[in-house]
Amino acid sequence: MPHPSLATRASLREVRYDIRGELSRRARELEAQGRHLVRLNIGNPGAFGFRAPPHLQAAVAAHVPQSDPYTHQQGLPLAREAVAEHHRRRGTPNASAERVFIGNGVSELIDIALRALLNPGEEVLLPSPDYPLWSAATLLNGGRPVYYPCRPENGFLPDPDEIEARLTACTRALVVINPNNPTGANYPPELLRRLAGIAARYGLLLMADEIYDGILFDGATFTPLAPLAGDTPCLSFGGLSKVWRACGWRVGWAVLSGDPLRIGDLHHAMDLLSAMRLCANVPAQFAVPAALSGPDTIAALTAPGGRLHASRRAVIEGCAASPHLQLVAPAGALYAFPRVVGPAAEEFDDQAFALELLESEDLLVVPGSGFNLPASRHFRVTLLPEAEVIGDVFARIHRVLERHALRARARHVA
Ligand SMILES: Cc1ncc(COP(=O)(O)O)c(C=O)c1O
Repeated sequence: MPHPSLATRASLREVRYDIRGELSRRARELEAQGRHLVRLNIGNPGAFGFRAPPHLQAAVAAHVPQSDPYTHQQGLPLAREAVAEHHRRRGTPNASAERVFIGNGVSELIDIALRALLNPGEEVLLPSPDYPLWSAATLLNGGRPVYYPCRPENGFLPDPDEIEARLTACTRALVVINPNNPTGANYPPELLRRLAGIAARYGLLLMADEIYDGILFDGATFTPLAPLAGDTPCLSFGGLSKVWRACGWRVGWAVLSGDPLRIGDLHHAMDLLSAMRLCANVPAQFAVPAALSGPDTIAALTAPGGRLHASRRAVIEGCAASPHLQLVAPAGALYAFPRVVGPAAEEFDDQAFALELLESEDLLVVPGSGFNLPASRHFRVTLLPEAEVIGDVFARIHRVLERHALRARARHVA
């Protein structure tokens, strides 16, 4: 008798992770056939020639001989103390090494935190568009994502009243991604204060994904959420992947702040789940003190004359040069999220558009619907390629959109 095939977890069917999904698989096939693609789909600095700063590399290399044992489940004490000190400097209340968790990237810590928090059916307020790992981790841990809109008309900033309107008796957490992936929005202090106020009034956990906290353009400044949250429980996430260009090292941290009485069992739950995966990658944890107390190496890249500054400019100019594109200029992070407008946007299917860019122009982008944005006319590109490459990328995108616009005009005439 034939054996039935194995069933997998049903909730996985609701999960989308288009950043590395079908399009990415098709891209690999095309590359195997000898095509040269421009991959704009992942914020992977190392893949674009960025290197982790030498003082971080030296710190890891010097400590390999001490990296054999497992560490404490929350991480190496010296790494946790460095994160706590960094957070004390920026005003996080009661930041201490005991309240720091080191993980294999922020990704693992997002999963651990949501697993520690959620009972089946409980709700998490997430931005739309989101960074899709947040939705996936919510669903896979039994929760329900509830999206609050971040509209381009409002600079991709959320409206606190719309967030409040989505609260139910089941809401447990409010996720804030700042500076934002995929939109590049940088949240102002007054907005963050209002978001913290909502969490305080309704007893929610604030989850602040601040992995891009050092990547800002044109004089924008980052405001951390935890100092504004005060006694309200808040988990602040950061790591080496982006600001220090070391995403392959898999080092992230989460800092728990707020009144211990309100935090309740969360610390213990996260500690227990961390213990079950033993510890995070040890050698790379030795880079954390070097990163947080060493020289600033990102500002030279984002300031005028820097490579990221030039690439962001090229994206802004590329969008401005096409009547088919509109862009809210990213204030921070490593992405832009342009919108297709006008006749080219009629009968628009963002997945089909992304596939067309891949098949006909050798460009790999992520369609906006990959960020849990329904009926999206957006797509995301990373700012990581060199400016000249980006100029050429937008010329190719314009070429495809011209075809769309021509077809729309022909439909109107017919
Ligand atoms: C908003 C956001 N959060 C978290 C992550 C995951 O980071 P890590 O490499 O630390 O797992 C990313 C990666 O792109 C991200 O964009």
